[in-house]
Amino acid sequence: MISKQIEQVLNDQINAEFYSSYLYMAMAAYFRSTKLNGFATWMEKQAKEEEEHALKIYEYLNKRNGRVYFKSIKEPPFEWKSPLDVFEATYVHEQEVTKSIERIVSLADGEKDYATSSFLQWFVDEQVEEEYSVLQILERLRMIKDSNQGLLMLDAELGKRNED
Ligand code: FEO
Repeated sequence: MISKQIEQVLNDQINAEFYSSYLYMAMAAYFRSTKLNGFATWMEKQAKEEEEHALKIYEYLNKRNGRVYFKSIKEPPFEWKSPLDVFEATYVHEQEVTKSIERIVSLADGEKDYATSSFLQWFVDEQVEEEYSVLQILERLRMIKDSNQGLLMLDAELGKRNED
């Protein structure tokens, strides 16, 4: 059995993960509109992963006899100034997700809900990977600045994520 507080914050996290998926699909659509299809592919894959994160929590809550409820998902932004702008926003967003996961871990620890802490360890590790991969792309976009050639090379590389 899970406490009402943990049930609520895990439900909030389900919503946050679906929002992440929605946000990354909006970014993918922006990239499709600018014909940077490799960037778009990368974001579409990222959106899929976020959906999987939401479903992992859904399964966990059900297993612990918690109740899942779905709230509205916030509308994501529609427009960005550049690929750099997108990845600056992505990096900020992932750091917020990390904080949110860490907050739930400390609540679970405070309640001695060791099962939830253990379950969330996967998310803690995943956030390290996500922040790392987003930062790699962000740093390279900062190096590329206004070079179209550099941007197209990175686009080709990111498009390979589809083959993972
Ligand atoms: Fe589910 Fe990108 O964190």
